[in-house]
Amino acid sequence: MVKVGVIGLGMMGLTHLDAYAKNKNVKIAAICDSDPARLSGTAHAAGNIEGQAQSTISELTDVERCSDAFDVIGNSDIDLVDVCLPTDMHVKFGCEVLKAGQHLMIEKPLARTAADARVIAEVAQESKGIAFVGHCMRFWPGWTWLKEAIDDQRFGKVYGATFRRVVNHPGGPFYSDGDRSGGAALDLHIHDTDFIQFCFGIPKAVTSFGYSKITNQPDHIISRYEYDDVPLVMAEGGWAMTDGFIFNMGYTVNFENATAVYDSAQSKPLTLFEKGKDAVQVEVDEIMGYNLEIDYLVDCILNGNRPTVVTMEDAMQTVRIVEAEIESVQTGARVSL
Ligand SMILES: NC(=O)c1ccc[n+]([C@@H]2O[C@H](COP(=O)([O-])OP(=O)(O)OC[C@H]3O[C@@H](n4cnc5c(N)ncnc54)[C@H](O)[C@@H]3O)[C@@H](O)[C@H]2O)c1
Repeated sequence: MVKVGVIGLGMMGLTHLDAYAKNKNVKIAAICDSDPARLSGTAHAAGNIEGQAQSTISELTDVERCSDAFDVIGNSDIDLVDVCLPTDMHVKFGCEVLKAGQHLMIEKPLARTAADARVIAEVAQESKGIAFVGHCMRFWPGWTWLKEAIDDQRFGKVYGATFRRVVNHPGGPFYSDGDRSGGAALDLHIHDTDFIQFCFGIPKAVTSFGYSKITNQPDHIISRYEYDDVPLVMAEGGWAMTDGFIFNMGYTVNFENATAVYDSAQSKPLTLFEKGKDAVQVEVDEIMGYNLEIDYLVDCILNGNRPTVVTMEDAMQTVRIVEAEIESVQTGARVSL
């Protein structure tokens, strides 16, 4: 049994609680938030994907409730500490968990800067705790199908891969402060940057365009990632859309012998166009990647394995790539990695 304490009960803390509650090998031992309304459940954060952040804090029983993160960190009754705090707090609290020898689940981005991400990754190397970063797209149905299709080359080589993730701004002080969140580039678009790294490795260089509308960081960005073996890899991410715009994520990947299109607005989101065949809707499991990543982490902890689907090095490199994209937006130059 893995005893977990969740620090930060916003959208992601609730989403992780949903996943822990469904895993029979987990006991939710503690919850923590410095905001009394979040801790009592009278203020309930909303998710941006249907079915997300459903947990009702006020109904949790037999759980320690605290306002000080250090009642969870270093607590010998808690094996796994889940850090769902604002991004600029990740480096401090992530390192403290690992220094205390507990296992760490930390939300993406690993840290606000690549330098801080490197610090956590280095502390993780020395820790007896297992460290994991919530790069959920590596587990998301439809995306895992794509990764396998790219790897096993069932449709031949990839010529072009474009990804898209757009929404209206979530609001709130953390997301409105680019110094804390990193704008949409680091907070939202990072999902596609990370998935691109997962599929194709670290790009040679990036060229990005974008603008700030809400924060002092790119709130809408389009990037081209350069690879020797894939002619066109691009991603668009933004939270600058007008209120009422529904969250949409997807991709179009053009292989030698097929084209795969994912559009989250469709009830059957994944369509495959294969040479010489009628278009088909590929069945995609409706479970969210959040549940699958947490099940994977719990298995790693129970079996004493360090995670390989996403490593601390991967998560650090993803922040580094996004930083290069932001630099490219700001300077207008192609940035080498
Ligand atoms: N994987 C994903 O799809 C995804 C989606 C959204 C957000 N995130 C990431 O998750 C993290 C959290 O985002 P969120 O939307 O849940 O934020 P949020 O602002 O809704 O929640 C953060 C919570 O932390 C609490 N908090 C702040 N300081 C604290 C402290 N010192 N001690 C205890 N509690 C404290 C706040 O009161 C708040 O309830 C961010 O890094 C964000 O980038 C990931």
